[in-house]
Amino acid sequence: MSARILDGAAVAARLRAEIGDQVTSLVAEGRRAPGLAVVLVGDNPASHVYVRNKGVATRKAGMVSTEHRLPGDATEAELLALVAQLNADEAIDGILVQLPLPAQVRPEKVLAAIDPEKDVDGFHALNVGRLWGGETGLVPCTPRGCMKLIAEAGRDIGGMDAVVIGRSGIVGKPMTQLLLAANCTVTIAHSRTRDLSEVCRRADILVAAVGAPNLVTAAFIKPGATVIDVGINRVAKPDGGLRLVGDVAFDTAVGVAGAITPVPGGVGPMTIACLLENTLMAYRRRMNG
Ligand code: GUN
Repeated sequence: MSARILDGAAVAARLRAEIGDQVTSLVAEGRRAPGLAVVLVGDNPASHVYVRNKGVATRKAGMVSTEHRLPGDATEAELLALVAQLNADEAIDGILVQLPLPAQVRPEKVLAAIDPEKDVDGFHALNVGRLWGGETGLVPCTPRGCMKLIAEAGRDIGGMDAVVIGRSGIVGKPMTQLLLAANCTVTIAHSRTRDLSEVCRRADILVAAVGAPNLVTAAFIKPGATVIDVGINRVAKPDGGLRLVGDVAFDTAVGVAGAITPVPGGVGPMTIACLLENTLMAYRRRMNG
């Protein structure tokens, strides 16, 4: 039997169209469009692609997109000054500082400087605390997108065993909170977990977010499980080019899982759609509706 493919590109397109319709209605009422500012420091090629894609999606949804580029040797003070300027800008509802940042800049200082009400990444300590306290709010985009794909599998997940591989602040940790809020029994596995395949095989929902190409093989997967692959790894092809693979060995996993996300076209497109959702949420909160 072959797993159902959870088509993130299609789900994301639906969500983006819904958000676009809401923005169109706001503008038709004579209100300003929501605004998202994206900050990019340095020349990381992957970050350039992400930032460009975010800008395109933001404009397509009818929102205002501004991009702010600083050189790779920019100081922390320069970046903090830019964040302060964006915090004060009434036309900006969301601020995203693309990670990773160059070594001379402390990411925790920069993330702490973003107005929590404009923190569309959900990385500010206040928003992290809100999530762990069970409040609804600005939740990191990738885990938010993963939850939508899990819902797409169409199963009642209350009481299910969920295993998240990876303990990052961007994906692993917030993912566990969202699964817990959905009444799953959650295990966080990581690089030091003993008998990783055995732990994973207990999972009705398995989320792989480690950045290790093809780590999760069929032997890690309980038959019928929902498998969400957050990994985006660039690996060399025999012809010398690069191709994207996830953390899950898709070709074998698809024969065991009940539902599975592909890479590319799974979680990736959902992250941008959820960024737009967070931007619209931040706008509505700031504008009271
Ligand atoms: N770099 C990789 N993923 C992300 C993300 O979700 N947000 C930000 N700001 N940077 C990233």
